[in-house]
Amino acid sequence: MNLLDYPRWPSLARESILNIPVDLRSRRVTIQGRTIDYGEDVDSVVITGMGGSGVVGDIIGDLCWFWGCGKPIIVSKGMRLPRALSKPLVIAISYSGNTAETIASAREALNRGFPTIGITTGGKLAQFLNELGAPVIIIPKASAPRYGLPALLYPALVILERFGVMNVASELESGIVGMEKAVKSLEEAQGIARRIVNTVPVIWVTESRRGVGIRFKNDLNENTKYYAIVSVIPEGAHNDIAAVMGKQQGLSHVFIYGEGDYEARYLETLMEVVKSYGKEAITVKLSGGTPLESEMFGVAFLGLVTLALAEMTGTEPVGTEPIDKLKRLLDERKVIT
Ligand code: PA5
Repeated sequence: MNLLDYPRWPSLARESILNIPVDLRSRRVTIQGRTIDYGEDVDSVVITGMGGSGVVGDIIGDLCWFWGCGKPIIVSKGMRLPRALSKPLVIAISYSGNTAETIASAREALNRGFPTIGITTGGKLAQFLNELGAPVIIIPKASAPRYGLPALLYPALVILERFGVMNVASELESGIVGMEKAVKSLEEAQGIARRIVNTVPVIWVTESRRGVGIRFKNDLNENTKYYAIVSVIPEGAHNDIAAVMGKQQGLSHVFIYGEGDYEARYLETLMEVVKSYGKEAITVKLSGGTPLESEMFGVAFLGLVTLALAEMTGTEPVGTEPIDKLKRLLDERKVIT
């Protein structure tokens, strides 16, 4: 089976943090006569990006449940930033650097006077941030944005450490252990793929693993070309669960959680209810000695499940023609300015 960039994830993670400017906190950017001082304190962090780049915000959101991040993290996946922001740090992530929503958000951030940092392989995002003297971290390339996840995530973690939002430096290597463990668990990933082939997976996750659930859904959409649904508990236990009583065919139920998750017993209890309606429960337990290790194990392992599914169904995993088509049309019509 072709594992694409997964065996390279450890080196993508390590290489990506080499390009972080040492003078990050002493940058000053002047726009329209107004100076943005990167040394000043921030009161929140906005992580903006779409798809395989935007999921970095969701993953950091998960990690904050375990680490207790010092500032609120706001995940923004849109053309505009939230209206009510006071003194945020903005991290704009676009693998290609050409995603219109992310470029528009980064422009807006700088125009509103917020310190803004780009993470990208290049493109228009790198160009305009460089022109303004705003920091931009150029990361190594992969086969497609989502396969470069560690190169998008690791610089964001280091930036957050530099801004005093979290202490992560000592955990970075453990995340790499999680990625390596996932690649060694390939047979297990193929086993899960066999149980969900030709179904619409319902992905049940704890609140603190929302990012893993979203990433799995996105990988199913893009690598396998499958529809999938994410149900985050406890909220999903107050609506989605009622559907297990129905006669709708062709769903599978995948339960993802870490043993140490605050909501683990809740999810196990919900699983029992699902099984009591004759449904098969497929469980994926996220193991690891640190939150980052279990998180990276989860996203890598479930990514491999989607590649195994793609192989089983004869699907080419890398190409996402409808996304490219839409991006072309949005550009031609100047929908996002
Ligand atoms: O994984 C993918 O290919 C997509 O989800 C892209 O990440 C998404 O379209 C955004 O593009 P980019 O990451 O280049 O900003």
